[in-house]
Amino acid sequence: MARILITSAIPYINGIKHLGNLVGSQLPADLFARFNRAMGHEVMFICATDEHGTPAELAAAKAGKPVEDYCAEMHQVQAEIARGFRLSFDHFGRSSSQRNHRLTQHFAGKLAENGLIAEVSEKQVFSIDDNRFLPDRYITGTCPNCGYTAARGDQCENCTKQLDPTDLINPRSSISGSTNLEVRETKHLYLRQRSLRDKLEAWIDSKTDWPILTTSIAKKWLNDGDGLQDRGITRDLYWGIPVKKGDQPWPGMEGKVFYVWFDAPIEYIAATAEWADANGKPDAAWERWWRTDKGAGDVTYYQFMGKDNVPFHTLSFPATILGSGEPWKLVDYLKSFNYLNYDGGQFSTSQGRGVFMDQALSILPADYWRWWLLSHAPESADSEFTWENFQASVNKDLADVLGNLVSRVTKFAVSKFGPEVPAGGAFGPLETTLIADLGARIADYTRFMAQMEVRKSAGELRAIWVIGNEYLQAAAPWSVVKTDPDQAQAIVRLSLNLIRVYAILSAPFIPDASAAMMRAIGSDDWTWPDDISAAMRALPVGHGFTVPENLFRKITDEERADWQTRFSGIRG
Ligand code: 2FM
Ligand code: ZN
Repeated sequence: MARILITSAIPYINGIKHLGNLVGSQLPADLFARFNRAMGHEVMFICATDEHGTPAELAAAKAGKPVEDYCAEMHQVQAEIARGFRLSFDHFGRSSSQRNHRLTQHFAGKLAENGLIAEVSEKQVFSIDDNRFLPDRYITGTCPNCGYTAARGDQCENCTKQLDPTDLINPRSSISGSTNLEVRETKHLYLRQRSLRDKLEAWIDSKTDWPILTTSIAKKWLNDGDGLQDRGITRDLYWGIPVKKGDQPWPGMEGKVFYVWFDAPIEYIAATAEWADANGKPDAAWERWWRTDKGAGDVTYYQFMGKDNVPFHTLSFPATILGSGEPWKLVDYLKSFNYLNYDGGQFSTSQGRGVFMDQALSILPADYWRWWLLSHAPESADSEFTWENFQASVNKDLADVLGNLVSRVTKFAVSKFGPEVPAGGAFGPLETTLIADLGARIADYTRFMAQMEVRKSAGELRAIWVIGNEYLQAAAPWSVVKTDPDQAQAIVRLSLNLIRVYAILSAPFIPDASAAMMRAIGSDDWTWPDDISAAMRALPVGHGFTVPENLFRKITDEERADWQTRFSGIRG
């Protein structure tokens, strides 16, 4: 039994995530967690909400709520939706937790002790009416290059020129519109990543099995001219983790907080501590996942995220860990994803374009989405959600192939031989061939799943469903029963066992349907069918089963057209 630590990139607190976010981190991480549990491994699967930063403050202000209340509410909303999608986190934490405060301050203190923090004075735009410093992108004005009047302080969207807020003509606060701005001097902490460059490079080079997408992004940031910049890790904001050196005050940094990207990945660790707290366990219980001096030496750590998050996880967070000089667990394997596009454009949270997680669950159960998203995961390239494709996959793979097999077999079996596994006949050549084919395919499927090859796994699972259907078609128990009822019983016996095997294999993808299949077949033995010959004989003769409700319904053309229109615009 291995010990597997899995983290999914933690979603921002402001707003509900769209399906592109889901398929780029939480969902494939869940697939992998479920698979590893099925393998009998000890799994710790962690996610959380990423609660700090200006966007959270602004979203709270827009909702007319104190930011603490807003985050607490939104955390509940996101947790509920995660349950709806059957995301099987061992803990869904909050980056605003006291655990994360303490750990983040601890890391900052260690980095300072090790000479890896620089204090830098810089000039920044202060909005007098908003009574706050403005991040560059919250300053709007006229572009000096093209005259566009709504250019942002970091970049002009119209001509793409990179800007400094002080370049803007007629600058104003994007928060209040106020032009009452001034440039003020402010002090910030910088993480001296540059001095960790060689260590980081050696570490990345040692990861020869990482996906190309991950390594190429890491290398690009490491080597590009201004790649590995020292990074500002503090901000002049109200909402965040107060800057401290361990549990000591940090002179000159009063009233400042850590930058959201500094504390967010530390929350992976903190959330595991929150898990221990929530379950009444001692510190040793979470430390054995994270401290190599306290038992984490035999843990393998996997991270899942979209490609935009890769630089932070291959450079910044490891810089924090390595720079601390303490024996914290570093990631072993980093699985990253490209983007999922939406019906000819991009999913966009800021524009409300696409299907969001709550909307998805309001029209169809989780399994339908899980299956489509995972079987079309943007692994080697970006992929695209279209309603036509969604309808076709659901109707064919889930309804016609899997659902139909389950209902045909159970209905036929009950009507001819009653609600128990029949005894007659013996497996013949068709059955032997099917068992051999299944054995080979399950071996491939298991290997792809272990390698986090999400699409290949889905393809293999689909093929496993298909060969069962083909077998049934060829064996034709509905004809055989007329001439050789004993043989028909053997076919039914095998087919009922096949349903159980399908339930086990499919559970990481479609957990609810799998549970329904298992209930119908009257079993709770989830042993992975490594020994397929035994698995196809697992249900004893006389074992009771029932006919399940239809597992999947088809999506009609009307529904598809309706949803297409409903989700074509911008979410209000
Ligand atoms: O991109 C995002 O949604 C970020 N909130 C991910 C943070 S992942 C990590 F650093 F915790
Ligand atoms: Zn411009």
